[in-house]
Amino acid sequence: CKTLIIAVDGHSSTGKSTVAKLLASRLGYTYIDTGAMYRAVTLEALRKGFIVGEKVEEEKLKNCLSEIHIDFRYNPADRRYETYLNGEYIEEQIRTMEVSGKVSLIARIGFVRKFLVEQQREMGKAGGIVMDGRDIGSVVFPHADVKFFMTASPEVRAMRRYKELLEKGEKVEYAEVEENVRKRDYLDEHRAEGPLVKTADALLIDNSEMTIEEEVQVMLEKIE
Ligand code: C5P
Repeated sequence: CKTLIIAVDGHSSTGKSTVAKLLASRLGYTYIDTGAMYRAVTLEALRKGFIVGEKVEEEKLKNCLSEIHIDFRYNPADRRYETYLNGEYIEEQIRTMEVSGKVSLIARIGFVRKFLVEQQREMGKAGGIVMDGRDIGSVVFPHADVKFFMTASPEVRAMRRYKELLEKGEKVEYAEVEENVRKRDYLDEHRAEGPLVKTADALLIDNSEMTIEEEVQVMLEKIE
């Protein structure tokens, strides 16, 4: 039977990755987290000192882009895919507030998007994937078999992310997290290339008042 390409796009902190992972595991598909790839490039740019305040030294980044190798490896013990940068495990480092605060600056750069979109197309072309991101249904796989667009109010999303960060032991203020969520929305929606946009053929899911299980059910029904 045909194995599908399923695109899950939407705003930051809508729990896209949680439901995309669940969907993938119920369908026996591979889950691909494209946000992790933008985060990995951001981590590398931070380490190399290419991000100064709100400015990215684009020429320097461009010159070393071909040396950035990102891959996902399955960890059977935790039953999840984990992100590696040039062979180094970076799953935790890419989820910090520092990386979240800068990632949209990197994600708006055209050559970065081109570099990652090519890899995403390669990873997904055989189907049997659930890919989550911002531009999967619009740019990476405009002909995806099923498309979802997830959203929730900024306050609900910021509160979820805030709790997650506290659980990980990060010292953050709620206001800082809400500001980050709103800023990323703005930058993601207003960039020239691959902006966050709901395509007409995507099913809109506002999960402000839904449980994860309800959401997965709605999605599975649509897929069927
Ligand atoms: O999904 P996640 O929040 O981890 O993504 C981090 C950031 O990467 C987003 O805020 C967005 O700026 C960028 N991104 C993107 N296109 C994608 C996935 C993520 O621009 N397909």
